[in-house]
Amino acid sequence: MKFQLIRVATIVAFSVASLPAANAQFAKPEDAVKYRQSALFVMGNHFGRINAVVKGDVPFNKEEVIKNATLVNTMASLAWQGFGPGTEGGRALPNIWTEAPKYKSYQDKLQASTAAMLVAAQSGDLENVKKAFAAVGGNCKACHDDFRKK
Ligand code: HEC
Repeated sequence: MKFQLIRVATIVAFSVASLPAANAQFAKPEDAVKYRQSALFVMGNHFGRINAVVKGDVPFNKEEVIKNATLVNTMASLAWQGFGPGTEGGRALPNIWTEAPKYKSYQDKLQASTAAMLVAAQSGDLENVKKAFAAVGGNCKACHDDFRKK
């Protein structure tokens, strides 16, 4: 019993020690900028593919829309890791760091809407997808208006 406890304690101590420090996920600030821009670029690309369906340029294929909505939803949760302290740059406005709670609330709104868009895609109803797409688009725009350089 005692031996087991010591083993558990050792494992816990080891795992905590091997976690990267909060700001050490990226070797240099430029890497964080590259990471977030890449995630946002991929998100934008897959959102654009859904846009083509919503506009009627590409026929509605439920499985394809689910794939694209899944990627948008995943990227919408990843990009923000790249905005840590000391990573100013790119088209990011400085108020991202001075108005952090507001910036976070925009991320949360986006994520709620991309999750809803995935549910809409799974419903297989194009009208649902259109509505959910418009809601996500509004959240992209709101954040770009307030936090991205023109
Ligand atoms: C919470 C704020 C926020 C939301 C929400 C947001 N963006 Fe952005 N986006 C930014 C910021 C800030 C940048 C500039 C990042 C930089 O240059 O470092 C950016 C940059 C981009 C870029 C350029 C990436 C590159 O190649 O450099 C694309 C594309 C993009 N966003 C698409 C979207 C789409 C599509 C949505 C909605 C599905 C969205 N964004 C939602 C804040 C946001």
